Amino acid sequence: MKINLYNYSLFITFILLFSGCNQSQNQTTTSSSNSIPIGIAVAQTSNVALLGQEQVAGVKIAEKYFNSKGGINGTPIKVILQDTAGDEAGTINAFQTLITKDKVVGIVGPTLSQQAFSADPIAERAKVPVLGPSNTAKGIPQIGEYIARVSAPVSIVAPNSVTTALKINPQIKKVAVLYAQNDAFSKSETEIFQQTIKERKLDLVTVQKFQTTDTDFQTQATNTIKLKPDLVVISGLAADGGNIIKQLRELGYQGLIIGGNGLNTSNIFAVCKALCDGVLIAQAYSPEHPGDINNAFRKAYIEEYKKEPPQFSAQAFTAVQVYVDALNTMDKKIKISSLPLNQLRIELNKQLLKEKYQTPLGEIGFTQEGEIIQKEFYVAQIAMNPDGNSGKFAFIK
Ligand code: ALA
Repeated sequence: MKINLYNYSLFITFILLFSGCNQSQNQTTTSSSNSIPIGIAVAQTSNVALLGQEQVAGVKIAEKYFNSKGGINGTPIKVILQDTAGDEAGTINAFQTLITKDKVVGIVGPTLSQQAFSADPIAERAKVPVLGPSNTAKGIPQIGEYIARVSAPVSIVAPNSVTTALKINPQIKKVAVLYAQNDAFSKSETEIFQQTIKERKLDLVTVQKFQTTDTDFQTQATNTIKLKPDLVVISGLAADGGNIIKQLRELGYQGLIIGGNGLNTSNIFAVCKALCDGVLIAQAYSPEHPGDINNAFRKAYIEEYKKEPPQFSAQAFTAVQVYVDALNTMDKKIKISSLPLNQLRIELNKQLLKEKYQTPLGEIGFTQEGEIIQKEFYVAQIAMNPDGNSGKFAFIK
């Protein structure tokens, strides 16, 4: 499967390079529409849309907000959405459409690391900047020169939830780990969790595997519970993760549960309902982060969705902001509308790695490789309301 996709992406890149697309890409960016197109390739459909929906919300708020501030020195931005769905093939298609048809200056996407490892090399070869809004697996910025991310990696984020679990229950000794073996991010995150468990001198009593497409976790839950763990740590995505929480609780597990970054959405409430209560999830964003930009983002989000903004929306907003801020800096030096698109993309990639940004995530910057430099991280605990349907992420101080 991987090899086929790789060959397919090589083939498509070959076609793009030699079909004359390059020539048409040399037109100036804003000549036809008088707006600056930023591509958004996230999952709007499939199970992965449980995360992708929140990203769409974030980029739409960003578009409105930055255009109200004058866009790029007076020229509005336009976010152009292409649905990746939940797999690699859909992501490759979305990237190709954004690069060759929509002629975007850069891409925000995709939702999953699993998708990024397949699609990012296409943007890399076409020299189109990519900002990963939620890809947290090890190795994403290393895909290439044009690939950066605003989503802090598993190595930085995941251990925080273990620290908090040990503060809540210092008696924790036995830990069970479950992870989705068909998902690159989940495999990367579980490695960090397992390493953290060993470093904290806890007993890793079992490692159970599943698929993100599974719905029945009776075997894994039974195998886990019989070992009497004090803590269960799950690395998967929202639908499967929510179901595992539900089935562990239904079978009688009463200890603490940590969910990884793929479960970091209130969309799991519809899956595990009242049984989601108490789950700990590390956060790369807090709605309470001080500063004008987060206040504006939070206010706009609450007005539209009547709840606090989630991490995936804040990160997606931030990715659009990075493009806007970097383009504004460039445009002050040389009118970006005078640059051929190919050159604009190359210059934009150089510029965005150089700046510091005041974002809803706090001040961020990038390493030369495109890894995010971010200062603050948090842990939240799910608190479900008595109705069992609604709830919130309560940030632990
Ligand atoms: N953090 C998850 C990933 O990287 C969504 O795939």
